[in-house]
Amino acid sequence: MNKIALITGASKRVGKALAEHLAAQGWSIIIHFNSSEKPAEELENELRKKYPQQKFGRAKANLANESEVERVIPLVVSEFGPFDLLVNNASVFNPGYLKGTDKKLFDSQINVNLKAPFLLMRDFANHCKNGNIINFVDTRITSNKSNFAAYSLSKKGLWELTKMAALEFAPEIRVNAIAPGVSLPPEDKNENYLWNLAENIPMKKPGGLEPILNSLDFILENDHLTGQLLFADGGENLGQNA
Ligand SMILES: NC(=O)c1ccc[n+]([C@@H]2O[C@H](COP(=O)([O-])OP(=O)(O)OC[C@H]3O[C@@H](n4cnc5c(N)ncnc54)[C@H](OP(=O)(O)O)[C@@H]3O)[C@@H](O)[C@H]2O)c1
Repeated sequence: MNKIALITGASKRVGKALAEHLAAQGWSIIIHFNSSEKPAEELENELRKKYPQQKFGRAKANLANESEVERVIPLVVSEFGPFDLLVNNASVFNPGYLKGTDKKLFDSQINVNLKAPFLLMRDFANHCKNGNIINFVDTRITSNKSNFAAYSLSKKGLWELTKMAALEFAPEIRVNAIAPGVSLPPEDKNENYLWNLAENIPMKKPGGLEPILNSLDFILENDHLTGQLLFADGGENLGQNA
């Protein structure tokens, strides 16, 4: 295996788990980060030590800033050559009903969660030509609840973009999405918070990382799969039965 993946927001949480999981399968990994410089460096060192035959690197960019976004792929390609997998995992997640969403909140969610993936996907297709793109959306895209209005809209847009790109980039590049549900608590909340949320979903327990990692494997192993969305959400997308 001589494959290389760029994972956005890879220094912590889901992104870090994706990096560790793929590295254990022989992938070389480029860890994108923004504010988490130290965790990114520690992860790179940890992976380098564990898998000395593979390549590891870091790419810093604020995905809210389009000129920084547009530098990412050309820079990675100049150092590592055309690579095989782009995972759009980085995200912001801020609440606000429509009536309470100002331009700043709207722009922050759309820029990081939709515009940056759009530009990265475009650049991946133009520079790398072959491989896979996996976009992280959210089970919330199936609902019209507006308590995270700009966030939900950004993820709905990313799912539409996934299908559009799957059609345009085929057969050289497959483009799929994963929609987690109750998986990890936000950084300022604990496991109890998650178990309370999980009471309202069909499977009655938080998913943790495993369903997400299994979905990643399923996408990568299935070379006829494109334009698809895997819900790693314990059935939350089905709605509630009462
Ligand atoms: N956790 C869940 O239960 C859950 C549920 C549904 C969907 N999801 C989706 O799954 C994915 C991973 O979830 P997560 O909870 O692990 O995400 P997270 O911790 O909220 O964010 C992941 C990373 O995104 C990066 N990021 C945020 N703003 C950025 C910016 N302006 N520029 C560059 N990077 C930026 C951060 O990197 P730095 O720390 O380096 O700044 C952060 O570490 C996300 O797309 C999320 O929407 C997660």
